Amino acid sequence: MKNIIEQINELKKEKNAVILAHCYQNVEIDNVADYVGDSLYLSRQAAQTDADIIVFAGVYFMAQTAKLLSPNKKVLLPVMESGCRMADMINLQQLRDFKSKYKNMPTVCYVNSTAEVKSECDICCTSSNAVKIVNSLNAKEIMFVPDTYLGKYVETQLEDVTVHTYPGFCPTHLQIRPDDIINARKKYPNAPILAHPECHNEVVKLADFVGSTTAIMKFAQESNKKQFVIATEKGVVDRLKRDYPDKEFILIKENIICPNMKFNTLGDIYNTLKNETNEITVDKEIAKKAVICINRMLEV
Ligand code: 13P
Ligand code: SF4
Repeated sequence: MKNIIEQINELKKEKNAVILAHCYQNVEIDNVADYVGDSLYLSRQAAQTDADIIVFAGVYFMAQTAKLLSPNKKVLLPVMESGCRMADMINLQQLRDFKSKYKNMPTVCYVNSTAEVKSECDICCTSSNAVKIVNSLNAKEIMFVPDTYLGKYVETQLEDVTVHTYPGFCPTHLQIRPDDIINARKKYPNAPILAHPECHNEVVKLADFVGSTTAIMKFAQESNKKQFVIATEKGVVDRLKRDYPDKEFILIKENIICPNMKFNTLGDIYNTLKNETNEITVDKEIAKKAVICINRMLEV
């Protein structure tokens, strides 16, 4: 009897399918994933793949973004309930209300949002390119949705740009408090502290390096330090421990876990691929506009 990993790999070949996995997923999913990385990396893979089926081991907006970029492919999400709690904080009406407060400035939309929201924003960004994207607009003022902390972080990185932010946030990253950084610094004085920009701005200010999940992993790989404190979701620490056993990685505090990211199991991936269930669809009119917002980002 073949094990589940072998069965999934066999199904992938049979159906010409590709599996994309975000680095907050349960780490055993990497055994069947073709690409593992951050949101930007995975959207690029989704746009480029020749596969007929994309199984997205991530949360809903990621699979939806893959569908927008590859409309002729079948995109499957192993567990339909795996939404992003930040993306759920803004709907189209809330976006319109927010936009009505400010006039004549571009709206930048973090990829952690629905296709409807993207369809009424000017340009998309991810955590790895947010500063570059805002800078490319040459605007003095912008609106940024839905992550208030990423938006404010971008403002600190650019001179003379005012960023008006929508009050959305990531409940997982907000569990990390400035005191956690101060305490970690005392306990591990030689360890650089690496933080994700979805963290509170006071946390980010105290960190040694700020970057997306992939950027954090790259920093740890390239550094000659032996010990690191990681201020983002636990999946990143699990992968770093597996990949660099001669280095030590400390999660900033216990249970920095995105529950929705952990919904997907190998069993769910097997079932979705086998039965081709949980297909993502997007309304054509919405898709037409939302894809412009994403493509503008990919072009920068
Ligand atoms: P990145 O993948 O850009 O690091 O973002 C993390 C995240 O919160 C995904 O939801
Ligand atoms: Fe959304 Fe936060 Fe989970 Fe990322 S970690 S998917 S932003 S809730």
